Amino acid sequence: MSVTPDDEGFMAAAIRLSRRHLGRTATNPSVGCLIVRDGVIVGQAVTAVGGRPHAEPQALAEAGARARGATAYVTLEPCSHHGKTPPCAEALIAYGVARVVISVTDPDPRVSGRGITMLRDAGIEVDAGVLEAEGRRSLAGYLTRQTKNRPYVTLKLAVSADGMIGRAGEGQVAITGPEARAEVQTLRAETDAILVGIGTAISDDPLLTVRTPGLEAQSPIRIVLDPSLALPLTSKLVATARDVPVILVASENVSPLAADAEGIPPSVLPDYRGRATGLDPSFGPPTRGEIDKEHDQNSQADSSSPATEDVGQAAIPQPISLLVGGEARAGEAGPIDPVNRLELRTPGRAEGGTSPTDAADLDSRRAVLEAAGVEIVYCNPYHPEVLLPALATRGISSLLVEGGAKTARLFLEAGLVDRIQLYHAPVVIGEGGIESPLDATDIPSGFTHMGTQMFGVDRLDEYERGL
Ligand SMILES: NC(=O)c1ccc[n+]([C@@H]2O[C@H](COP(=O)([O-])OP(=O)(O)OC[C@H]3O[C@@H](n4cnc5c(N)ncnc54)[C@H](OP(=O)(O)O)[C@@H]3O)[C@@H](O)[C@H]2O)c1
Repeated sequence: MSVTPDDEGFMAAAIRLSRRHLGRTATNPSVGCLIVRDGVIVGQAVTAVGGRPHAEPQALAEAGARARGATAYVTLEPCSHHGKTPPCAEALIAYGVARVVISVTDPDPRVSGRGITMLRDAGIEVDAGVLEAEGRRSLAGYLTRQTKNRPYVTLKLAVSADGMIGRAGEGQVAITGPEARAEVQTLRAETDAILVGIGTAISDDPLLTVRTPGLEAQSPIRIVLDPSLALPLTSKLVATARDVPVILVASENVSPLAADAEGIPPSVLPDYRGRATGLDPSFGPPTRGEIDKEHDQNSQADSSSPATEDVGQAAIPQPISLLVGGEARAGEAGPIDPVNRLELRTPGRAEGGTSPTDAADLDSRRAVLEAAGVEIVYCNPYHPEVLLPALATRGISSLLVEGGAKTARLFLEAGLVDRIQLYHAPVVIGEGGIESPLDATDIPSGFTHMGTQMFGVDRLDEYERGL
């Protein structure tokens, strides 16, 4: 049977449905499934929050006996392997559906093509590739982690009418209005992790959480590129690190191991991939199974980790473990309230920011940060091509880079941005402005303009590279 406009209509609905749980299905993709009988939807579901159950068994259960002879529309090829749940392809066969329409085939080597073969072998008609481009966009995080071993990276910038993103030395300067800010909150809620440079963390003292009523629990993991551990100890990020994870990415030369290993250059410190995954670095991208395995190992190592509560759930994106010797440090910090003590010693830059220089000061800052719940990873912050696979290994599929200028430039120059969201506001910044690293006239080649939307008086232009 050839693909009809009705098929495309139902698939479009399944894709819309799949977006409902973006950012909430841990390492599993958020998939949509419709069961349609005689042109009527008799069952529909999206992958459950936490990643299980998958969409298909839920939609089939809703359809019940009406699934017999029906058509199933699924945004991603049904799984064919026995993981923590039985294969979805088996469920579709058991319920007696006559036809399965798929948008995207699964790059997971345990599934790729096998789900389709299993269905066809059972006499079910299968059509794949329906609305594939839209399907791939809805699965961008999952597909990027599977095929490129890194998260899908969105760069978001708000640019004033005179091409600025802020004003030097003035902290947060309102560029966009409330409608655009609300939209950014939604984007954060759909994203696994959010990243800023230390310049922004110091000058803006941002929270980087989701404050939209009802979505607060969907705040992403917060990551700061902080080479020399300069994050102010009184910052909002530190104060809230126990509620929403904060990871500082610091240079290897401020790691405790660097201090201990006199004369050993940071380049010979243990390889992050060997540490993080236990896999040979030459292995390809981790499969869902490998991530689950890694996750399980971490659970055993740390019984207080929320991972241990993940019975029957997919691996939840976790803050990446300390790459070099940090967990022991966290334990050593003991009962403290050294935040104030340290701030007295290091009044530093604006809002307490400082660049600690001596080893004792670094030790103290590390202890305070870790006791406050901040995780520190030692992984050259100027090399996103090293950091991103480490994040993917921990199950982070999508990353939102929110600036500032230097950090945005770093990711653009590394060719590690997949989507650009550029807000243009009518506000004029004027003297002392920090120039935007990007404007509509200099979008890097390879990006396609996907569309323009208005949020109040602000204009959002979106650009994407093919997956
Ligand atoms: N309008 C917007 O969309 C938006 C969004 C976020 C921030 N902002 C504004 O941007 C301004 C801050 O921008 P910024 O460029 O000064 O700061 P930034 O990009 O947030 O951070 C840059 C600083 O972090 C250090 N750094 C460490 N690792 C880095 C890395 N991997 N890449 C780049 N820098 C790294 C740099 O040190 P070195 O200089 O030693 O290299 C530099 O001091 C603030 O005024 C803020 O309000 C605007």
